[in-house]
Amino acid sequence: MAPLVPAKAGTQRPHAPRLLFWIPAFAGMSGVWVFAVALLLALNLPIHAQQLSARSAAEAMDIVMWNREPVGGPFALTDHTGRARTEADFKGKLLLVYFGFTWCPDICPTDLQNIGLALDRLGSSAEAVQPLFVTLDPARDTAEHLKDYVPMFHPRLIGLTGDDAAIKRVADAYKVYYAKVPNPRGDDYTIDHSAFIYLMSADGRYLGFFPPGTDADRIAASIKPYLK
Ligand code: NI
Repeated sequence: MAPLVPAKAGTQRPHAPRLLFWIPAFAGMSGVWVFAVALLLALNLPIHAQQLSARSAAEAMDIVMWNREPVGGPFALTDHTGRARTEADFKGKLLLVYFGFTWCPDICPTDLQNIGLALDRLGSSAEAVQPLFVTLDPARDTAEHLKDYVPMFHPRLIGLTGDDAAIKRVADAYKVYYAKVPNPRGDDYTIDHSAFIYLMSADGRYLGFFPPGTDADRIAASIKPYLK
C-alpha cells in the first residue's frame, strides 16, 4: 500500500475512496504513522511556541490530507548556489517538495535521505523529478549553509531559502505548519514543523503527499506511475 494520497481536482470534502485508502495505510505503516500524527497534534500545544504559519498543525494536516484547499503555488526564493529561483524554473518536472530546517535532529534528515534514495531507485527516469528542500529557518539556513547541507542527501537536491516573508508565503501556500520554539535557556531555538513530502505534477498541481518516515521504496513506487 503506497502512502501517497491521490489528490482529486475539485474535491472539497472527504469521500469514501480516500477514507478507505487511509484505513489500510494506518494498518500498513504500523506505529510510525500513528506516532507522526500524534506528534503533529502535540506540536500545536507548546505554550512558548511562536506559530509562524497561517495554519495550526491540525488545520494544515487536515487540508493536506483531504485536499480541502489548493496546495502549492508560486514562490520566489534563492537556491543553495545563490541563484534566484521561482516555480517557473521547474515547470515540466515532477516536484518533490519538502519543508524543514538543517538543524532538525531527526525527521528532516531521515526524510531527505529517503527522497535521495528514492531518486536513486528510479534510475535515469528520476531525471524527470526535481527534489526541493525549502528551509523554515532562513535566519540560520543561508544559501551558504544549505550549500554544505543538501549535497549530503542527493546531488540533484536543491535547497531553497529566502527572507522571512518569502518563506512564510511558500509555507502557507503548501499549508505547512511551523513555529519557533525557544529552548529553556532562551539562547537558542528549534522549529516545530509539519513534515510532509509533497508530490507536485509537471504543471504545478498537487498530486498528494508522503507522511513523515515514508521509506524510499514506497516513495519510488508511488512516483513511478507519474513518470511517462
Ligand atoms: Ni525537521
